[in-house]
Amino acid sequence: MKTVIKNIAELIQTEQNPRKWVAGKDMSAINTIKDAFVEVEKGIITAFGSMDDWTGIDDWNNTEIIDAEGGMVFPTYCDSHTHLVFAASREGEFVDRINGLSYEEIAKRGGGILNSAAKLQEATEEQLFEDALIRLNEVIRMGTGAIEIKSGYGLSLAAELKMLRVIKRLKEHSDATIKATFLGAHALPQRYKNNKNSYMDLVIDEMLPKVAEEGLADYIDIFCEEGYFSVDDTKRLLEAANKYGLQGKTHVNQFNAIGGVKVSVDLGCLSVDHLEEMNEEDFEALKNSDCMPTILPACSFFLGIPYGAAKQMINKGLPVALATDYNPGSTPSGNMNFVASLGCIQLKMTPEQVINATTINGAYAMGVEKELGSICVGKKANLFITKSMPSYAYLPYAFGHNVIDKVMINGKIKK
Ligand code: NIG
Ligand code: FE
Repeated sequence: MKTVIKNIAELIQTEQNPRKWVAGKDMSAINTIKDAFVEVEKGIITAFGSMDDWTGIDDWNNTEIIDAEGGMVFPTYCDSHTHLVFAASREGEFVDRINGLSYEEIAKRGGGILNSAAKLQEATEEQLFEDALIRLNEVIRMGTGAIEIKSGYGLSLAAELKMLRVIKRLKEHSDATIKATFLGAHALPQRYKNNKNSYMDLVIDEMLPKVAEEGLADYIDIFCEEGYFSVDDTKRLLEAANKYGLQGKTHVNQFNAIGGVKVSVDLGCLSVDHLEEMNEEDFEALKNSDCMPTILPACSFFLGIPYGAAKQMINKGLPVALATDYNPGSTPSGNMNFVASLGCIQLKMTPEQVINATTINGAYAMGVEKELGSICVGKKANLFITKSMPSYAYLPYAFGHNVIDKVMINGKIKK
């Protein structure tokens, strides 16, 4: 069965040859085709081009036609940083922050990540899976076709494995592309308060081997931050994980620049994420590396912390990816359209830069750039069709509105 999408007002982010990523000045351009079509077979893009060049239908019995009715077609978003599996929302802390407490103060009182960990430890795997699947389907309908999901609310061997098994089940149940990241070093459980090294021993000597043995993770992560885990902890963990073939995607520079970027780059991380606080040494470390700087503007929006320096990175010739950070504490939204709007409004990125950052660069940041992130022959047919819009800049401009009409994952329209 072949599927043809026709009458596309503009086909966005087309590529003749798949690229690794888009960096620096190149981020200001995207390739598009006006009045276009796309052909899909067995979930893969087989052809695309201008309607003038479309050869028509040769087998009517085996062709499904989708009329885009003048909407635009984009590759789906690649959301390379989420904590989508969690047991409960945390709007109580949201109210505490409105009343003047900071995220750090709430964490110090046993709230924050430890609050989520307590709830997750009580939840059954079945309940976690059902809730996460609902969230996953919600974000797919908002245009996300590939998503990275972290553990990190378990903080014990059993609960971290429970979270990772939930992510494994999501992979099995969903057509969306999913990558799993082991984030055992997300926060220090209360009982290790005065004994961080023994918790690191637990993560490295007990959790990591089990996670690797069961093939439950594609990547490793750590929250490298004052009051959480140090640069030395990060080095130790990344070195241990590399022995199991797990590449890092680290939480660094969210509140303080303490050297997390350099150690992550030096130890071959695929991405460094957050980057709200950057110094010269951090920028320097990223130059000529293969590590994707990933900014999470919805987290800055929700916590009222500084926004990452996207413009500066692009001006220095670096690539930038944008992701949601979807989690119950710092970013209770998995909406990549909103991230795209914040990219333009707060990070001062152009619509073209934002499109590159949320598609091809997001794909790189989760290791799927060969199969996703652009409209390219041979790549997966994960794309969305918008309502009719005057130009592609309308998508980030119309913040808070739903401009997506249909989402196709692996060649099938998502109901
Ligand atoms: O990326 N910074 C560390 N982890 C999450 C927040 C987790 C939480 O508050 O539950 C983040 O913002
Ligand atoms: Fe995060």
